[in-house]
Amino acid sequence: MNTVFPVPLKPVIQPPAMVEETLGVEERVTLKARIKTLMAQQDAVLVAHYYTSADLQDLAEETGGCVSDSLEMARFGHAHPAQTLIVAGVKFMGETAKILNPEKRVVMPDLQADCSLDLACPADEFAAFCDAHPDRLSVVYANTSAAVKARADWVVTSGIAARIVKHLHRQGHKLLWAPDRHLGDYVQRISGADMLLWQGSCVVHEAFKAEALKKLHLDHPNAAVLVHPESPESVIALADVVGSTTQLIEAVRTLPNPEFIVATDNGIFHKMRAVASGKILLEAPTAGEGATCTSCAHCPWMAMNGLRKLAAVLESPEGDKNGGNEIHIEESIRARARLSIQKMLDFAAAEKAGQLPLGD
Ligand code: 13P
Repeated sequence: MNTVFPVPLKPVIQPPAMVEETLGVEERVTLKARIKTLMAQQDAVLVAHYYTSADLQDLAEETGGCVSDSLEMARFGHAHPAQTLIVAGVKFMGETAKILNPEKRVVMPDLQADCSLDLACPADEFAAFCDAHPDRLSVVYANTSAAVKARADWVVTSGIAARIVKHLHRQGHKLLWAPDRHLGDYVQRISGADMLLWQGSCVVHEAFKAEALKKLHLDHPNAAVLVHPESPESVIALADVVGSTTQLIEAVRTLPNPEFIVATDNGIFHKMRAVASGKILLEAPTAGEGATCTSCAHCPWMAMNGLRKLAAVLESPEGDKNGGNEIHIEESIRARARLSIQKMLDFAAAEKAGQLPLGD
């Protein structure tokens, strides 16, 4: 059923070198104070992903913003009255904020912060994929460009993908899925839907290794294994919990296990430690014993976000299209992308209101 239709077999995406911001205590304090003043002057709120630095996550919470998974980032930014949304994460997250809030100024600390899944799915190739299968609805992961979202029927995030696909399957639809082959394969397995899969993958999650994980688990038999569904099937097969970043944090908070092996970007450990300080958190192995890895469980694009860059962005003149790291999206693309994102938000709201069966 999982036929692979003519798309690049496995698009090869070369991640940039990892450059993480390191700050001394004094500089951190000074930068945070400066950013807080600028945010208040510019009516700005900070929406950060769990994979960004501890400094950005702390700043978001200290200033009434949010730290969350990509679904909640979209919902929070949309519901918040601030005129400027600062999105600390990767480009698709900033674009999603702009798509939902065209009247707001949306800025990011670094516009080069991309995503291997987004890069692996060029809009023209995706459109050809859709054109070749007019009998199928297209469902794309949020980790895609605005132009891909504009062509898609539905947008989903990891936190809601399985429930939406089950819903579409129950309605009798056959589907196209892009770009993450592992998440698509996982959703296909649990929903039974007929899906054609694009072959992209996340450079971070692709690197987790099942055999090394089994060995680590033998040494820590009481640990629960938590896996993000962008991981390979062999790793997902070892999981006690498979879920979005928020769902994995919730598992650390609520499960009785004293230890957890976590297969997702290690930026998430900051929040996990905050919600369950007494528990032991172990990184899932990325490349087997003695091997090197390209990602080492941390996204080099997420690492491009930092306090220094954020301060510089807020200090650059507002309305300057060449500065300020503001997101701009061509209106016809934005309006179409909005429709497919809005379906997801409406689905989530209807579920919450009890108008749809809650996904199992
Ligand atoms: P979540 O929506 O689970 O936070 O995932 C976002 C992401 O990009 C994972 O690589």
